[in-house]
Amino acid sequence: MKITAETIRAMKARGERIAALTAYDFPMARLLDEAGIPLILVGDSLGMVVLGYPDTTQVTMADMEHHTRAAARAKPRALLVADLPYQSYQSAESAIANAKRLMAAGAEAVKAEGGRIIANQVRAIIRSGIPFCGHIGMLPQNVREEGGYHLKGKKEPERQALLADADALVEAGAFAVVLELVTPPVAKEVTRRIPIPTIGIGAGPDCDGQILVTPDLLGMLPWFDLKHVKPRLNAAEQMRAVVREWKKSFALRNPDEKVDAP
Ligand code: KIV
Repeated sequence: MKITAETIRAMKARGERIAALTAYDFPMARLLDEAGIPLILVGDSLGMVVLGYPDTTQVTMADMEHHTRAAARAKPRALLVADLPYQSYQSAESAIANAKRLMAAGAEAVKAEGGRIIANQVRAIIRSGIPFCGHIGMLPQNVREEGGYHLKGKKEPERQALLADADALVEAGAFAVVLELVTPPVAKEVTRRIPIPTIGIGAGPDCDGQILVTPDLLGMLPWFDLKHVKPRLNAAEQMRAVVREWKKSFALRNPDEKVDAP
């Protein structure tokens, strides 16, 4: 059966953990779906892991639509969520218009960064019939202002802000919320406090689910310094080795060798 935002929300009540991963194209969305991942995110991490930008702030709506269309062609059973990119949800009007563009590209829900500060936009998106996933803690779209990716919740005002932001997203009608780089005790407190699932990344083991950037899980990007994820595969090294081996197989061939026509 097709997984909807309501299915994901209900997983918390049933005590089912949620495994979520990112995909930016058809093959990855299809492979993740075949492996039984219930939530696939076309994340704006696209900017770094596919497009070669230093952070997510240069990702455009056109980029997100293009990659959402590619992932949607896999017709996943999983819920396909797409990120609203940097500065695409400054007002309720732009949030609705851009969320609709992502839905037209094949997304089945959208995600945006922030809590109380975007509550109006979240309410507007949900009122227009689009399921919404929140994202609080470290907000990668603010990385320039913040000067890096810093853990949130260490100080009491940060803890209070995270609790208030989580409450605001629940009140606005979000079906789940990503907690990024939140101290494990605060992530646990938020998870116990709110009725919708928390999906952690670098937020400890006590969230209702976990999300990873798939190329990080597969060890495809060894040049990034990852603190919160231990790759389960060394895909980069395996790819280099296969390519070298293939290249060598050409060099070894005797140039005078006669190859039978097929
Ligand atoms: O863009 C992304 O991949 C994300 C995840 C890190 C949650 O937002």
